[in-house]
Amino acid sequence: MESTLTARDRVGVQDFVLLENYTSEAAFIENLRRRFGEKLIYTYIGSVLVSVNPYKDLEIYSKAHMERYRGVSFYEISPHIYAVSDNTYRAMRTERRDQCILISGESGAGKTEASKKILQYYATTCPVTDHMSTIRDRLLQSNPVLEAFGNAKTLRNDNSSRFGKYMDVQFDFRGAPIGGHILNYLLEKSRVVHQNHGERNFHIFYQLLEGGEQDQLSKLGLERNAQKYHYLVKGCCPRVSSINDKSDWKTVRKALTVIGFHEEEVEDLLNIIASVLHLGNTQFGEGEDGETQITTEPQLTYLSKLLGVDGPALREALTHKKLTAKGEEVSPLSFEQAVAARDALAKAVYGRAFTWLVAKINQSLAFKVSHTSIMIGSSSVIGLLDIYGFEVFQHNSFEQFCINYCNEKLQQLFIKLTLKSEQEEYEAEGITWEPVKYFDNKIICDLVEEKHKGFISILDEECLRPGEPSDISFLEKLEDTLGGHAHFVTHKLANGKTRKAVGREEFRLIHYAGEVNYTVNGELANQSVNSTAVICQSDNQILSQCFNREEVTTQKRPETAATQFKNSLAKLIEILMSKEPSYVRCIKPNDAKQSGRFDEALVRHQVKYLGLMENLRVRRAGFAYRRRYEAFLQRYKSLCPGTWPNWQGRLADGVATLVQHLGYKPEEYKLGKTKIFIRFPKTLFTTEDALEARRPALGKTIQAKYHRIRNAVIQSAWRGMKSRRKARRRRHAAEIIRKFIKGFIYRHYERCPENEYFLDHQRFSFLMTLVRNPPKSVLDKSWPVPPPSLTEASEHLCRLCMQNMMRAYCRRIQPEWKKQMEQKVVASQIFQDQKDSYPQSVPKLFPPVVHRLQHFTDLTNTPLTDYGVAVTKYDRRGYKARPRQLLLTSSFAVLVAEAKLKQRIDYAALRSISVSSLTDGFMVLHVPSEDNKQKSDVVLQCDHVIEVVTKLATMADKKNKVNISQDSIKFAVARGKEGVIDFTSGPELKVAKGKKGHLLVTAPQLNPR
Ligand SMILES: Nc1ncnc2c1ncn2[C@@H]1O[C@H](COP(=O)(O)OP(=O)(O)OP(=O)(O)O)[C@@H](O)[C@H]1O
Ligand SMILES: [Mg+2]
Repeated sequence: MESTLTARDRVGVQDFVLLENYTSEAAFIENLRRRFGEKLIYTYIGSVLVSVNPYKDLEIYSKAHMERYRGVSFYEISPHIYAVSDNTYRAMRTERRDQCILISGESGAGKTEASKKILQYYATTCPVTDHMSTIRDRLLQSNPVLEAFGNAKTLRNDNSSRFGKYMDVQFDFRGAPIGGHILNYLLEKSRVVHQNHGERNFHIFYQLLEGGEQDQLSKLGLERNAQKYHYLVKGCCPRVSSINDKSDWKTVRKALTVIGFHEEEVEDLLNIIASVLHLGNTQFGEGEDGETQITTEPQLTYLSKLLGVDGPALREALTHKKLTAKGEEVSPLSFEQAVAARDALAKAVYGRAFTWLVAKINQSLAFKVSHTSIMIGSSSVIGLLDIYGFEVFQHNSFEQFCINYCNEKLQQLFIKLTLKSEQEEYEAEGITWEPVKYFDNKIICDLVEEKHKGFISILDEECLRPGEPSDISFLEKLEDTLGGHAHFVTHKLANGKTRKAVGREEFRLIHYAGEVNYTVNGELANQSVNSTAVICQSDNQILSQCFNREEVTTQKRPETAATQFKNSLAKLIEILMSKEPSYVRCIKPNDAKQSGRFDEALVRHQVKYLGLMENLRVRRAGFAYRRRYEAFLQRYKSLCPGTWPNWQGRLADGVATLVQHLGYKPEEYKLGKTKIFIRFPKTLFTTEDALEARRPALGKTIQAKYHRIRNAVIQSAWRGMKSRRKARRRRHAAEIIRKFIKGFIYRHYERCPENEYFLDHQRFSFLMTLVRNPPKSVLDKSWPVPPPSLTEASEHLCRLCMQNMMRAYCRRIQPEWKKQMEQKVVASQIFQDQKDSYPQSVPKLFPPVVHRLQHFTDLTNTPLTDYGVAVTKYDRRGYKARPRQLLLTSSFAVLVAEAKLKQRIDYAALRSISVSSLTDGFMVLHVPSEDNKQKSDVVLQCDHVIEVVTKLATMADKKNKVNISQDSIKFAVARGKEGVIDFTSGPELKVAKGKKGHLLVTAPQLNPR
């Protein structure tokens, strides 16, 4: 509740009922002043909002502000017009009772602004649908139109409403605005023809002249110059810096469209506006016979065109008067009378057009039953009354009388309703009603309106009396009837000092808000609109609706303006009485329209005339402060050990315990059913002080407690979280184990829910094993065993892996090594699995060029040699062993002995090469024996037979001509003669000449085949 307020919000008291010295006007004003100084323009008197015009934008009306006040209890937040708006809206929705907000105050105090703020609040915060948004827009747009026609610049306010306005906003069962209705009161028609110095006529005239298009103005016979129109320059200020007539005209035109005015209607309306200006410029002069006549013919032409009436008839109506007693006879008007008749016509035309305008707006705002007929039964209304407050001038005319009478009635209503609601609240809470002392202004209302005896009845009587009514006879009649009334005084009735203060043509009413002298001069001037009969014939649709033919034909005298006003006021009071009221009292802080200036005398005057002290007295007659139990207990429970930190029992008992502990005396408070009522603010302030004093200790206690609780809470939360996490993990693990075992049992089945976890796991672990431990090199043949479902994939993977490794290996290989490998490949193609010594040769590298030459010393004649090796040559006959070097060139091989070339074997001539399958180093190079150049086959032995044969077969391109013999090799000794080498396996290598002339070679067999 109040705890949400900031220190600034607490400047002074935000509710006047909490003012200790509540009967002191000075204390009241001081509180207003202090708050105003802090830009706190709103203060409550109970539920009444007092608003002081800041004369500047305070930035407290944003959407965010609206949201802040939305749905929040009235006293929980600083006073604001939105709080009143929201409270009213919620009361309407929850209690389903019509509401009204009465806004009053002096001219320029901010009533219209307040009513606009309320409307904006509803437009922004209430729910809307598409159709409703149209109504909402029309509600908002009705303001600029009414302001254009009904507002004017006055000395007190540049946008002064010159009429009273009551607006009903209708809401459906969902709380959305669905319609509206406006009642207007007392338009200040005299302004149409006359303005005081520094004031203007109604805005619309200037707007039309400034903003209207040239064509339009020409059609209306107008010039874009306000100075040219007598009705616009009486106040000598057609232009005002704070007003932009041109842009306002645009706003009004747009608003008229939004509200739904047809073009013809707008045209008719503008014709009326223009005709008023032409009337103003209509001049009179004296004719030849001394009769009054119109001297401005063009004006008359325009008038008859714009008003849609017959020209000569209008001329006569403006210069002659019908004699009622003598039927159709007419008599000429004097100059003054003609001027008065002209002005009366202008006022009547404008006044009635304004009433038509309001009716037209009402049609557009009317809730259409066809939309949702179910809504109508459950719709509710919020009424907004924006009406002038008390007015007191040096000379107060009939208009001021009406205004002040209206305020008197509203005060009556306020007293009745406030007391009534107070009483109802007391009853609801079961508290005995104690009579409240206050001034009841019923006596003044009666003085004005009582039948036969009241002021208005006497006025009516005087007007209806045969013969010419006069102000003096009226005053005398008043003195006769009202003389002796405590609230009525005239110069004659008064004595001493008072007599001096009341003029001879004046009477004084002692209103609840103060004394006001009214002048009776002109009080009885009845509208003698001879021209009514003419206007009734008008072609202008608006005028023909406004002026009724019956008015002319009827013999009955029309009601006086006072009776009309009395009746409309009675109707208004009836409307307001049927609703739950809220009040906004507006005050202006200075006459200069300046921000930040607080003129105490001016404010005091308004406080008095608004009856705020009286408001406060009534409100404070009983109890200054009341709160619901829960709110009171919540705020102050820390002040009593019995209620701190929490009260467990009934709320009423809790509050009783609390106030007992605080030492409240019985006369200081009362306990109702749901609320505590505290009689004096002092009691509350003492409690507030105690709370303030308790706060530091409370803060420490709360902090310590908070730390303890926080530690304990955090620790236990942490422990709880850990155990919960552990239990969760355990549950999860058990679940997995169960799944695993089940999966293992079902592992040979098709994939099914029982084994899917296991199979997935198997697959996953196989793949992870591969990822973590892939084969390291091309020679590494290790590969994990795949699960059955991955057999095929595993093969593909293995192949891919191998290809990858091989590709990488090949990319790394050097050219010499490549050559080496190529030779090794050739060797493997020739010897693998064919010759026993092959496996031993595999790891031995084939040497580079002529590496193995041992006895070779000088061979300058030989061509470039690619390879050389030491060999043992066996003679074909006798098998004598001789050391030789075998050199291989690109096209032949040579055998060399001690730098002598012993034999040359052309590769082209080399037929084949034979070797044994054993581990010996014998090889036979077969060459054709018929070739003379060749010396027949060559038998050689070499320790590197694999290497030599591979090189030779490669260089001579005889890879397919290498024979590997199991047991013997035949070779040609000479033409037609053959030698044989027999091979046998034995423990060691032996070469010997055998029987039959064979060479016998014994060699160890390493790999048994
Ligand atoms: N709450 C506000 N914040 C800022 N300025 C304001 C506020 N209320 C009023 N004003 C200023 O005061 C001027 C007069 O206010 P407003 O027209 O509402 O007075 P009023 O009480 O309706 O007067 P009248 O009886 O002459 O119509 C406004 O035009 C505006 O400039
Ligand atoms: Mg206003």
